[in-house]
Amino acid sequence: MVFALRPFVPADLPALYRICLLTGAAGGDATPLHRDPDLLGHYYAAPYAVLEPELCFVLTAEGEPCGYILGTRDTAAFNARAEREWFPALRARLPRPAENDTSADADLLRLIHAGYSIHPDVRDYPAHLHIDLLPVTQGKGQGRKLIEHFLAALRERGVPAVHLGVSERNTGAIAFYEKLGFHCIGAYPGWRAYGMRL
Ligand SMILES: CC(C)(COP(=O)(O)OP(=O)(O)OC[C@H]1O[C@@H](n2cnc3c(N)ncnc32)[C@H](O)[C@@H]1OP(=O)(O)O)[C@@H](O)C(=O)NCCC(=O)NCCS
Repeated sequence: MVFALRPFVPADLPALYRICLLTGAAGGDATPLHRDPDLLGHYYAAPYAVLEPELCFVLTAEGEPCGYILGTRDTAAFNARAEREWFPALRARLPRPAENDTSADADLLRLIHAGYSIHPDVRDYPAHLHIDLLPVTQGKGQGRKLIEHFLAALRERGVPAVHLGVSERNTGAIAFYEKLGFHCIGAYPGWRAYGMRL
């Protein structure tokens, strides 16, 4: 399999949504969980590609997108910008769910209506990232390559530290981040924050 890593182009957006869905259940396929297949991508992938494309990189296998790494150099500024430029249009067409709706779609709609926030423990780690590779691409050293590329892009921009969030059920990703030198910043109900000083 021939892999290549390249900057995001707008035509990649549908692939980003697809990859986000196929890896969105603690690393596994979230397709069966969602009636609206785009909700995960609306929150976890697309806004980064659209608002900060210079920090979005796409991995291809035989020319087809099979993974990505994306994020922001400045979480506080990104969150404020998403509040102005990303969430309003989504909120206008995706109503809040009923209070007794316990579906995975409802959980995501609540996130979209709440907007992004920063956990106080990660305030010293201004950048954050998301990385997702399709199953055929996993375990071949590509994840490490994407992280190294992303960290180099952050260093070039003078960013002092980066954080990320991971589901506590995603033991594979946790092992991956620890192998690559991220340290656990905090463990919370259902998820952990990891970080690295640059
Ligand atoms: C997690 C993920 C990004 C890792 O990327 P990858 O390409 O599979 O990992 P790599 O092959 O680059 O592995 C890098 C190192 O991490 C280790 N590692 C990776 N996955 C691991 C796992 N499941 N268990 C233990 N170690 C693991 C590897 O052994 C390797 O160590 P080495 O370089 O010393 O041999 C990728 O598997 C993925 O996208 N998974 C699904 C989506 C996901 O969970 N995203 C993260 C959400 S927070």
